[in-house]
Amino acid sequence: MATPGKPKRIGILTAGGDCPGINAAIRGVGKTAILEYGMEVIGISSGFLGLINQEYVQLDENQLSGILTLGGTILGTSRENPFKKSAAFNSIDKPKLIKKHYEEMGLDALVCIGGNGTQRTASLLAEEGLNIIGIPKTIDNDVWGTDVTFGFDSALWIAVEAIDRLHTTANSHKRIMVIEVMGHHAGWLALYSGMAGGGDVILMPEIEYDIDIVAKYLKKRAVNKKPYSIVVIAEGISCPKGQKPGHYIAQEISNRTGLETRETILGYIQRGGSPSPMDRVLATRYGAYAVELIAEGRFGMMVSSRNDSIMAVPLKEVGGKLRTVPLDHALIEKANRMGVCFGNCKV
Ligand code: F6P
Repeated sequence: MATPGKPKRIGILTAGGDCPGINAAIRGVGKTAILEYGMEVIGISSGFLGLINQEYVQLDENQLSGILTLGGTILGTSRENPFKKSAAFNSIDKPKLIKKHYEEMGLDALVCIGGNGTQRTASLLAEEGLNIIGIPKTIDNDVWGTDVTFGFDSALWIAVEAIDRLHTTANSHKRIMVIEVMGHHAGWLALYSGMAGGGDVILMPEIEYDIDIVAKYLKKRAVNKKPYSIVVIAEGISCPKGQKPGHYIAQEISNRTGLETRETILGYIQRGGSPSPMDRVLATRYGAYAVELIAEGRFGMMVSSRNDSIMAVPLKEVGGKLRTVPLDHALIEKANRMGVCFGNCKV
């Protein structure tokens, strides 16, 4: 059982899709907890699955060294949702089991690093009485309650580098290049990589597009002697069932314009590898602040960044909400004025 009073032993887990910067956050939590507060840190394996199966290791300073620049997560991750019934656990009451194991492990608090799904689970566990702190991470940048999640900046660099490379091959062959970036529900990566990469067309889930408008726009560019075009799309845009968005858009453009068109689906490359310097710093700040909240006994909170200040928002305000790109976002307005096509304007 956890001892009353000052938190002495804290757990940390990483859940949902991985992203660059998770290890930097684990290190931020671990080093602050051990060096500043003299706490013990327990690393739980494979997200909430590790709490169900009681798979964990004690993390000491040595295990936290040398992981700042490492991609992925040293703890492993899973998409296990303890509040969802699953065949693997039959009729087991998973939240009850987690609560029991949390107590048996002698945890005073639990840090949950993850995206939207994880923050929702974290909020529900907090309601069950566990001392929870959430840390938001995802390349999609769609966690409600924070301006930014770590992982986004690293993925943005990768997407932009890919788009930069597509420019030269597109120009050589006078082709339309369609690139699909991640973002199931939100178009942050598509918008930012599209703008940073000089995309001509940007399609994102938040803006209803008309493929005829896209085709007309690209044809007009070709007529105006623009030898090639770059089309950046988010994986979450609407498209006919069973079709892959990047493939569908490339085919429709080719059919409607007669212009030679190729597609690139960037996929998991966006989630792998070393975090960018900005993500290392953000993840470290989040990790360190999570431990400060624990030391102050402020539980049921998610760390967040607002105007570059690190603060805390109640998990119950965050859980289940999605942060999509607002339609009046300044970058969309600027892009519109510069002639970027979002598939929704007459050309
Ligand atoms: O991390 C977020 C995300 O990258 C989404 O954009 C993507 O659709 C999803 O994860 C896919 O992840 P997985 O295949 O690991 O479930």
